[in-house]
Amino acid sequence: MSLLLTEGLGRRFGGLEAVRDVDLALREGEVRALIGPNGAGKTTLVSMLCGRIAASSGRIHFAGREVTRLPAHRRIRMGMAYTFQITSIFAELTVRENVRLAVQRVADDAALELRVAETLACVGLEGRADQRAGDLAYGHQRLVEVAMGLGQAPRLLILDEPTQGLSDGEVAGFVALIRAVARETTVLLIEHNIDVVMALADRITVLNFGRVIAEGAPAEIRADPVVQEAYLGG
Ligand SMILES: Nc1ncnc2c1ncn2[C@@H]1O[C@H](COP(=O)(O)OP(=O)(O)O)[C@@H](O)[C@H]1O
Ligand SMILES: [Mg+2]
Repeated sequence: MSLLLTEGLGRRFGGLEAVRDVDLALREGEVRALIGPNGAGKTTLVSMLCGRIAASSGRIHFAGREVTRLPAHRRIRMGMAYTFQITSIFAELTVRENVRLAVQRVADDAALELRVAETLACVGLEGRADQRAGDLAYGHQRLVEVAMGLGQAPRLLILDEPTQGLSDGEVAGFVALIRAVARETTVLLIEHNIDVVMALADRITVLNFGRVIAEGAPAEIRADPVVQEAYLGG
């Protein structure tokens, strides 16, 4: 059974069909990359999955339930976590406080501080826990966001361009982190860095003008002439 399933999912913005008729099925445990040119509809698609924006058409099922009209906080409680392109950390709070806020969305119990500490250790930020988040380097701020997603112990972690703006060394660290996370969590990763995609993805879905134009294993996608034309630049 699929952890996440969409049927005919679509979203219009006025006259623009940003996402059209998308059928997506994520198997529990896989790492799926979602790629496509700028404006292809990737952010719009995952925004519908997590309930930040409403679908114009179609359905979304998650963990065996239809969630198409459920509010975002209910989907979070069901095990969906996400980080978006735009940094959403609270700059004035410490790293620990940011992560604590995220963990509290799904659990507020005696084990809270332990979970926060474990999550910080998982992403390698334990040494910066008491720094003001806004004072961190950009790459570390992105890690805080990943920690905020992971702190919710999600069944599905959705990451929208997490390596954007990272140095090569930081990208390598990120790849290792997601490999470790993927042992326990299904991951849906929007990513422009094709090396990161090839290193992490079990399967790749390619979006162009709002539609899925290809889907398959990394080697198949890399060899697909339609994908090369639309995205990989021939
Ligand atoms: N809130 C919005 N209002 C109007 N148009 C939007 C909105 N969000 C996205 N779009 C448009 O939808 C299309 C897909 O955008 P987006 O999902 O952000 O693409 P991607 O993440 O693949 O770069 C683009 O043409 C974009 O301009
Ligand atoms: Mg986007």
